[in-house]
Amino acid sequence: MTQIHVLNGPNLNLLGVREPEIYGSTTLADIEARLKEVAPEGVSIVLKQTNYEGGLVELIHDAREIAAGVIINPAAYTHTSVAVLDALKMLDVPVIELHLSNPHTRETFRHHSFVSPVATGIVAGFGASGYELALKGILALIGH
Ligand code: DQA
Repeated sequence: MTQIHVLNGPNLNLLGVREPEIYGSTTLADIEARLKEVAPEGVSIVLKQTNYEGGLVELIHDAREIAAGVIINPAAYTHTSVAVLDALKMLDVPVIELHLSNPHTRETFRHHSFVSPVATGIVAGFGASGYELALKGILALIGH
């Protein structure tokens, strides 16, 4: 079974109620259900969320041995975390950086990403459907 890990950082547990004008009304549970629905046979989706920086680092470590690809929305840690960057550097599978919004159209502090230099691909600005796009993209990258 090919595992794709979908890792989500702080405040994304409140998707659906959090600033819906920016992030939409779809919840993380909806996103997980949708990914599982569209995942082709032989592909399993492991979706996790944490509000802690160290927790996100550990989820990346967990993915290291078993994931064929990682989709990560590091949320605010995108813009602050060298620890997340360093953990991602240890992955030797494709990594897709994902954002529901397009951070480049927002405040300047969101314009810098510590993650982008190690991301294989980036999906941003498509709202919740970005997760599906990222899944499609990562499956193409791994030839599934
Ligand atoms: C986000 C964008 C980040 O700037 C922000 O801190 C988030 C969510 C997005 O999905 O658009 O928490 O990663």
